Amino acid sequence: MAETTETTAPEVTLDEIVALCKRRGFIFPSSEIYGGIGSTYDYGHYGVLLRNNVKNEWWRAMIGERDDIVALDSAILQHPRVWEASGHLEGFTDPMVDCRTCGLRFRADKLEDAQCGRKPSKHPGEFSECDLTEAREFNLMFETHVGPVKDTGSITYLRPETAQGIFVNFKNVLQFARKKPPFGIAQIGKSFRNEITTGNFVFRTREFEQMEMEYFVPPDEAPKWHEYWMDERMRWYTELGIRPDKVTLRAHGAEELSHYSTATSDIEYLFPMGWSELEGIANRGDFDLTQHARMSGEKLEYFDQDKGEAYIPYVIEPAAGVDRAMLAFMVDAYDTEEVEGRKRTLLRLHPRLAPVKAAVLPLVSKDGMPERAREIYADVRAHVPAEYDEGGSIGKRYRRQDEIGTPWGITVDGETMEDGTVTLRDRDSLEQERVPAEGLGERLAAKLAKPWRTPKLG
Ligand code: GAP
Repeated sequence: MAETTETTAPEVTLDEIVALCKRRGFIFPSSEIYGGIGSTYDYGHYGVLLRNNVKNEWWRAMIGERDDIVALDSAILQHPRVWEASGHLEGFTDPMVDCRTCGLRFRADKLEDAQCGRKPSKHPGEFSECDLTEAREFNLMFETHVGPVKDTGSITYLRPETAQGIFVNFKNVLQFARKKPPFGIAQIGKSFRNEITTGNFVFRTREFEQMEMEYFVPPDEAPKWHEYWMDERMRWYTELGIRPDKVTLRAHGAEELSHYSTATSDIEYLFPMGWSELEGIANRGDFDLTQHARMSGEKLEYFDQDKGEAYIPYVIEPAAGVDRAMLAFMVDAYDTEEVEGRKRTLLRLHPRLAPVKAAVLPLVSKDGMPERAREIYADVRAHVPAEYDEGGSIGKRYRRQDEIGTPWGITVDGETMEDGTVTLRDRDSLEQERVPAEGLGERLAAKLAKPWRTPKLG
C-alpha cells in the first residue's frame, strides 16, 4: 500500500482528531491503565454508534438496496489449511529488519517512514550508531493454539482477512442462496495482523474490522464488474459526505499486487498524513476457489444450466476497513469556525452516520421544562436515535452535541410551555426555527431520509 505525502497543510491534524475522540468518548487506547498495548484501541459509546452506522450503511448498500448479494458471518478461527491454501502461510509477509543498537524492528521497505530509535530526526540506518540486520520475511498472522495441548498439530491463526471465510463457504451458500453468477457474499468482521509498522491512530492497527464482499462472476465478465465495483464504492463514500476531491482511485503497479490479484485499485483518501488506502478493489480471478478446491478435494464451481458446463467463477472483491472508513468520515467532517467571538468545533457528519441524530435539551432545569422535554424526547427517540441532556449551560450542551456531530438540537423553553413549539437548531447552518413539538419525531425521520450534501462543498 502506498502512502503518498501531501505538501499542503492538512485541514485537520491527526492529533486534533485523537483529542476529540478522547474528549468525547469515541476512542480510547486499549488497556490504557496498564500503559496501553501497541496499536489497539477501544471504542467508547459514540465510537460504537458511529462504527455501527458505518457498518449499517455498508450493509444497506450491499444487501438492503440490491438482491444479488447475501450475508455471511464466518468464524475467526479456521482450519489451518485454509491459510495454506490461501497463500497466507507462505506469502503474507513483510520484509523486516531489526536494529541491534536500539532493539526496534522496522519494515525494510518503509525505512523512510520510520524514526531511528536513538535519533528520531533520522531514519533507521542513517544514524552512525544504527546497526541493522539483513531483511527477513516476517509473517503477519497471529499464531494461536486450538485445544489444551500446545503442539504443532494444534496451531492455527487469527484470520488476517475475512475473505477466506467466504471462499470456504462458497458451496454452502450456492446451495442455499439460490443465486447464480454474478452474485456476491458479504461479511463484516474482525481481522488480525501483527503489523510491524503501526500508527496513525486507528489507520493501521493489529486488530481491526473489515467489510468485505466477494462478487462471483463469469470469468469473461470480470473486467466489467471490476470497473462497476470501483464506481459503486467511490459513490458510497461521496454519497455519505466525503468530498469528491479528497478521494481518488489508484491502480496498483505490477510489483504491488498481492499474490492472489490480477488487478487491484485502491480507493485512497487524503488523510492528514497524506493520500492513503481506504479500500482495495481487487480482481482475484479464480485463485481462491481453485486453491481451496485443490487442497480440500471439494468441487468449488458453478454449473451453468444454459450452457451445460461447469466453471470456476472469478471474484471481484471490494475490501474496506471499518476503522479507516470511520477515521476518514471524521476527518472529512471535522470543522472549526468562529461564532460570536468563540471557536466552535463540530463534526459535519452525514446525518445517517451521526451517532446521535437529535438532542433534546430543556433550556433550564425548572418550570416544568425537564418534564416536558422528556415527553418530547420519548416521541423523538421512537423515530430517530436521540439523546436527552439537561446538565450545564445550554451553550455548553450545544458545543458537546456539535463535537459529537448531532445534526439537530431541540430546545424546550418558556414558549414551549405556552404554545407547544420548540426551537429546532441546525448543526451546520446554526439556523433556529420554531416548530411544533407535536409530530417532531416524524418530522426528523423525514429529514433523515432526505439526500444530504456536506456544507463544506458550499
Ligand atoms: N481481502 C483483501 C484484503 O484484506 P487489504 O487491502 O489487505 O485486502 C482491506 O485490506 C482493507 O482492510 C484495507 O483497505 C483497510 O481499509 C483495512 N485494513 C487492512 N489492514 C489494516 C490494518 N492493519 N488496520 C486497519 N485497517 C486495515
